[in-house]
Amino acid sequence: MKTPASFEPLTVRGVTFRNRLWAPAMCQYSVLAQDGVPTDWHLTHLGGMARGGAGLVIAEATAVVPEGRISVHDTGLWNDAQRDAWKRIATFITSQGAVPGIQLAHAGRKASIFPDWGHPQSGGGTASVDDGGWQTVAPSALAFTGYAEPVALTVAEIDSLVTAWAQAAQRAVDAGFRVLEIHAAHGYLIHEFLSPKSNARTDEYGGALENRARLLMRIVTAVRAVMPDDLALFVRFSATDWVSDGFNEEECSIVADWCHAAGADVFDISSGGNVTGVTIPLSPGYQVPLTDFVRSHAHVSATAVGLITTPDQANAIVAEGRADAVFLGREHLRDPHFVLHAAVSLGVEIDYWPPQYRRARPKLNP
Ligand SMILES: Cc1cc2nc3c(=O)[nH]c(=O)nc-3n(C[C@H](O)[C@H](O)[C@H](O)COP(=O)(O)O)c2cc1C
Repeated sequence: MKTPASFEPLTVRGVTFRNRLWAPAMCQYSVLAQDGVPTDWHLTHLGGMARGGAGLVIAEATAVVPEGRISVHDTGLWNDAQRDAWKRIATFITSQGAVPGIQLAHAGRKASIFPDWGHPQSGGGTASVDDGGWQTVAPSALAFTGYAEPVALTVAEIDSLVTAWAQAAQRAVDAGFRVLEIHAAHGYLIHEFLSPKSNARTDEYGGALENRARLLMRIVTAVRAVMPDDLALFVRFSATDWVSDGFNEEECSIVADWCHAAGADVFDISSGGNVTGVTIPLSPGYQVPLTDFVRSHAHVSATAVGLITTPDQANAIVAEGRADAVFLGREHLRDPHFVLHAAVSLGVEIDYWPPQYRRARPKLNP
């Protein structure tokens, strides 16, 4: 039987993924010590999906500076203690045959929220300094709906953030991650620069697309510079703000092309998160057309994500040439062994069913 497209290996630079069914970054808000150091929860959460057959497992949005955390319970990579804790996790993911990846992030004007769960004010917008939060920063002093007004970054502060991104990337490489993903989506700092809805600057970081993309381009260049040639660099975009005067798939394709020329390899296409009150056409695979658009206009490798939940659906997206690989988020939370189950469902012989679990392996042809 011909191997289904989603189970074909994929090689990017020196990184080979055993299949094209991947686990995206998903914040766990589980650093209860508030020190940015990942915990046993992260080991079992990420390790479970690696054991479950995912080709790539990307660790959650991990802040490059403390003020870049969405909440005090986020992970970080701004110091070596965090690097050492991540190393254990990257090593375990690798031991299970998956590629370990990590998303490097700064939450910008959406930083400093109350913890996502287990706090009386969860869901209550920005935590003030008195509440244990901090002053947020952004391209411009424009608040996200329901959040505090951020302070516009100075050029000197932007310079130091680029350095922080490179230093975090170096630690990620040292920890053993083989895919680094720059988070330029979901209304966080880099997306805030890209989008005219949140960037009203009049200097070299605002206005024309080239200027709005300048921070991202500097980060891509700085991160690539610390990465060995054989490791893969991903960028996650929100390809549209879902409003006519926002960042859109045409601009995203142009920026992806620039990032590719600067050394980024794969574009992880998501959407939204920067503008509230918009209508998003939620339906199975609703973001796949965005991936298809960026992939075909920028001639780059790109992945699809969003309401992809079944083996047949995921496989068809890759088989039809609409994406190079597929990320399944919530489906992996429901079933960390999704890929093992998908192999059974699609009738694929795989050699990575965990030997410890062999007595539970379903027969393909009973
Ligand atoms: C619990 C949870 C945490 C998430 N955290 C992140 C994150 O850290 N970075 C990111 O880019 N997207 C994050 N997302 C979005 C997912 O990566 C994914 O794009 C989204 O859930 C849509 O895919 P799905 O329908 O397969 O879940 C998160 C989603 C969930 C459910």
